[in-house]
Amino acid sequence: MASDAIEDAGPDLTRGVTLADFGDKPMLRGHVGDKAVLLARVGDEVLAVDATCTHYGGPLAAGIVVGDTVRCPWHHARFSLHSGEALGAPAFDPLSCWRVEREGGRIVVCEPTACASQPAPAAVGQPEDIVIVGGGAAGFACAEMLRRRGYRGHLTMLSEEADAPCDRPNLSKDYLAGNAPEAWMPLRPETFYADNDIDLQLRVSATRIDVVARTVASADGRAFPFERLLLATGAEPVRLPIPGADRPHVFTLRSLADSRAIIERTRTAKAAVVLGSGFIGLETAAALRARGLQVHVVSLDERPLERVLGAALGDFVRVLHERHGVVFHLGSSLASIGAQTAQLSNGTALAADLVIVGVGVRPRSALAEAAGIAVDHGILVDEYLQTSVPGIYAAGDVARWRDPDRGDTNRVEHWVVAERHGQVVAENMLGVRTRFQDVPFFWSAHYDVTIRYAGHAPSWDAIEIDGDITARDCLVSYWKAGRRVAVAAIGRDVQALEWATALH
Ligand SMILES: Cc1cc2nc3c(=O)[nH]c(=O)nc-3n(C[C@H](O)[C@H](O)[C@H](O)COP(=O)(O)OP(=O)(O)OC[C@H]3O[C@@H](n4cnc5c(N)ncnc54)[C@H](O)[C@@H]3O)c2cc1C
Ligand code: FES
Repeated sequence: MASDAIEDAGPDLTRGVTLADFGDKPMLRGHVGDKAVLLARVGDEVLAVDATCTHYGGPLAAGIVVGDTVRCPWHHARFSLHSGEALGAPAFDPLSCWRVEREGGRIVVCEPTACASQPAPAAVGQPEDIVIVGGGAAGFACAEMLRRRGYRGHLTMLSEEADAPCDRPNLSKDYLAGNAPEAWMPLRPETFYADNDIDLQLRVSATRIDVVARTVASADGRAFPFERLLLATGAEPVRLPIPGADRPHVFTLRSLADSRAIIERTRTAKAAVVLGSGFIGLETAAALRARGLQVHVVSLDERPLERVLGAALGDFVRVLHERHGVVFHLGSSLASIGAQTAQLSNGTALAADLVIVGVGVRPRSALAEAAGIAVDHGILVDEYLQTSVPGIYAAGDVARWRDPDRGDTNRVEHWVVAERHGQVVAENMLGVRTRFQDVPFFWSAHYDVTIRYAGHAPSWDAIEIDGDITARDCLVSYWKAGRRVAVAAIGRDVQALEWATALH
């Protein structure tokens, strides 16, 4: 994680500060007892909320204020400064608000106050049955927001996974590396689902949607009626049709069960081959190095991550991994996998008692397609994330949404986008009519380096580098047709956040 934690506790806010203490900044971090509290200026008001992000504990004072919201510099969660509500994922829990008194020129923080909650939607007109297919980022965020907004009808969530929705990005990072305990992985404890009357059905596969009868059939022979349906089926790893790909020491990585199985294998394995030099392949390589395995990365690409980040960042990432002992075999692929070796297409044989295949994913759109819902490399949705069938929505990795401003469609595989999709769908299911307008954002962590990326640049005409990549202090901009369409940042968290807002 980035290292922008603020060591200094700042002033004691119960003694008061003045506007001059803010200097030219909109925020001032101080403390009340041992609690870190953030003061923020919004117009003539001075508002106080907790200073620590409820996602992974990011330092909100190092973020930015936009309107009456504060944005976290680490993964761009968005909180209301008036109510403390976590308006935009990846945070879900609210911040505490603190009462502020103005005494002459002094601003004094008193006690925490009850956060203002959103009014519940009118019970009349609410759908009676909502079904969510998918127990991942988008499905969870939708269910959580439905209940947060006061939806009182039946809410069913079907998930093929054995585990409740989990922190998927961590599966290739700290969890796989052995630095995050299992207890950190669920997005919510199991009691959350019972307490919020969410009927979470694990190990249940949805097999058919009847768009006329408005039911979802499951593999175990049941039918779930719906008035509104969310398809949040995500994406599945591409598997290789090569000899040996079905051996027990060959893995893909998508679920908590996959990550657990890889960890189990690392207890005896010594040499790993990772096929693919994308984000998941490289994060996996770093995690396996942390567990002391020899790691060889095999990729058809000439440079890791070049297609997403460009040549300069790709070279930086390669050197970073090489310094940590990863050996690259670029411009080649795997021809076959034996019990103890992996044979490359160029004839090289590598020792391998663990093989991870990370060559990309495919959107899981077959269920929608079979039901006659419009699909084109993902489930097609409008800016309200509704599919071609009214009342049926799609969100997350599986959704290809229309961007009316740019006149094109987007499908991305980012955690925060999936969760924000889910949140927007929840509001639309309740009749709010919210467009999805967020700028896509993702992060990727490699050893002690975190790359943050805002925007969407499947291709570009030019790349501009501000700063020094090797010094881990840079903002890389991607230009297309004279417009900056995306930025990637290392050590420039605030700039990445500002661009995520400005690119809007
Ligand atoms: C190892 C790993 C690391 C990642 N790291 C990052 C990162 O650092 N930053 C980032 O931005 N993104 C990251 N991502 C991507 C991010 O996790 C995805 O974009 C996100 O999970 C997509 O959410 P989703 O809800 O669309 O799909 P998912 O989270 O995959 O959830 C889909 C769910 O649908 C279920 N499902 C599918 N079909 C059916 C069916 N027929 N019946 C019942 N259930 C079904 C699946 O079992 C699953 O529970 C990572 C992904 C992985 C795998
Ligand atoms: S720590 Fe704040 S968004 Fe992740």
